[in-house]
Amino acid sequence: MATTHQTHLLLSPLLFLLLLFSPLRGVSAIGINYGTLGNNLPPPKRVAQLLQSTLIDKVKIYDTNPDILQAFSNTGIDLIVAVENSRVSNLSSSPSAADQWFSSRVLPFIPATSVVAIAVGNEYLTADDEDNNSHLDLKSLIQAMQNLHAVLVARGLDRKIKVTTPHSMAVLASSFPPSSSTFALNFIPIMTSIVGFLSDTAAPFMVNAYPYFAFRNNPNSVNLQYALLGNSTGVRDPKGYVYTNMLDAQIDAVRSAINALGFGNKMVEITVSESGWPSKGDAGETAATPENAKTYNTRLIERAQSNKGTPMRPKDKVDIFVFALFNENKKKGGASERNFGIFNGDGSKVYDVDLSCEFCSGGGKLEFGEKVAGVARGPSVWCVAKPHAEEKVVQQVLDFCCGPGGVDCREIYESGDCFGPDKVHAHASYAMNAYYQMHGRNYWNCDFKGTGLVTFSDPSYGTCRYSGQ
Ligand SMILES: *[C@@H]1O[C@H](CO)[C@@H](O)[C@H](O)[C@H]1NC(C)=O
Ligand SMILES: *[C@@H]1O[C@H](CO)[C@@H](O)[C@H](O)[C@H]1NC(C)=O
Ligand SMILES: *[C@@H]1O[C@H](CO)[C@@H](O)[C@H](O)[C@H]1NC(C)=O
Repeated sequence: MATTHQTHLLLSPLLFLLLLFSPLRGVSAIGINYGTLGNNLPPPKRVAQLLQSTLIDKVKIYDTNPDILQAFSNTGIDLIVAVENSRVSNLSSSPSAADQWFSSRVLPFIPATSVVAIAVGNEYLTADDEDNNSHLDLKSLIQAMQNLHAVLVARGLDRKIKVTTPHSMAVLASSFPPSSSTFALNFIPIMTSIVGFLSDTAAPFMVNAYPYFAFRNNPNSVNLQYALLGNSTGVRDPKGYVYTNMLDAQIDAVRSAINALGFGNKMVEITVSESGWPSKGDAGETAATPENAKTYNTRLIERAQSNKGTPMRPKDKVDIFVFALFNENKKKGGASERNFGIFNGDGSKVYDVDLSCEFCSGGGKLEFGEKVAGVARGPSVWCVAKPHAEEKVVQQVLDFCCGPGGVDCREIYESGDCFGPDKVHAHASYAMNAYYQMHGRNYWNCDFKGTGLVTFSDPSYGTCRYSGQ
């Protein structure tokens, strides 16, 4: 008997370690682009608080605004930061220029802020040089990406932070039919280098894909429902693939163009780094309405959450970043450019899109207009379940904490002070925190297979007290 008991005691921590470190299956959530070309936008801290109670778990920005990087620390939301087009040439000049950029703009904020990728430039290959109206130097792009990657390797951060670059659909020679699409001839050498780099470093190929613009430019030949992600008939590709929406066709067009570069079996994941629909436009832009924007973004979010691939690769889930969080009143170009936002600058919704998240604290009902309790900052730290962590895994963590983990879980049982809300994430947060406090508040005691999050704000509420320092 004694022997059996001993074996059991020895096994438990081992099983727990396996539980902690086995890879976590991807949780489907969605990203959003947080552009800041507006003079009426809320402060980044407020934005971070809002997003924490929604299903959005990835935020992409267009620079390295230190206020934003700071605001997203300890939020459980991943950040994609960017090198502006005008800085690409500087980073391409030498690894030390890239290191200077990284160590002054990103390094001070990690790991509290979870930076998972750096977008080098935005639509760089098809953008103009603002200084002399000619195209930017193409070779600088790949050189800057390589320099940055080398910086990350040297600092042991290359597995956590990926280096990539978002493209416009204009890098393609043609996008239909999807199965025969290729990159424009003048981009083939640079795309060959870029795709090779992404494949070698396991970074995603990013593309900004807008069925809206395809419809706006050809309203007579493009079916509106097809652009709005909802054509029931479908459009047939000569190879037999059937497309019920243009976004899938655009993604597969990019896939075909990548395949045509001849990398054989090398895999590159495709991420839609921007997609959206404006709620307002200039006189000719008749499809830019709040109704269409609501339809498109609702379906886009559903699509992102469905874990579905495209007709060409049904099993390869595609990450999607909605464009955009805010209407940006200082953006140049036509009226639609300033009206892609889901939120107005004052924090009200432009039209109703459901961003609620069933497991999030606050139930995803929080809006900018509502008061957010002041964040108590001090030397104390707590550990809670990440709002977007997969429920199944959180349940396993809860079972561990209250079982072999040795936590006194009476408060989360019925009639305990922390029983309500009766939700796995809430109960697990209580148990994870108790375990974390018990074991000396080391960050590895709040990992829990990637589902734990260290926070500086006291999670206690009502009579439910979370133990602290
Ligand atoms: C790159 O930028 C840094 C920081 O602004 C500057 O110190 C450096 O001289 C620049 N290097 C080149 C080659 O332009
Ligand atoms: C203008 O564009 C060319 C061609 O890419 C580039 O080599 C040059 O450095 C640019 N000049 C300035 C002043 O930015
Ligand atoms: C779907 O798109 C095709 C091609 O544009 C069009 O012929 C068809 O009428 C559309 N179906 C629906 C239900 O909108």
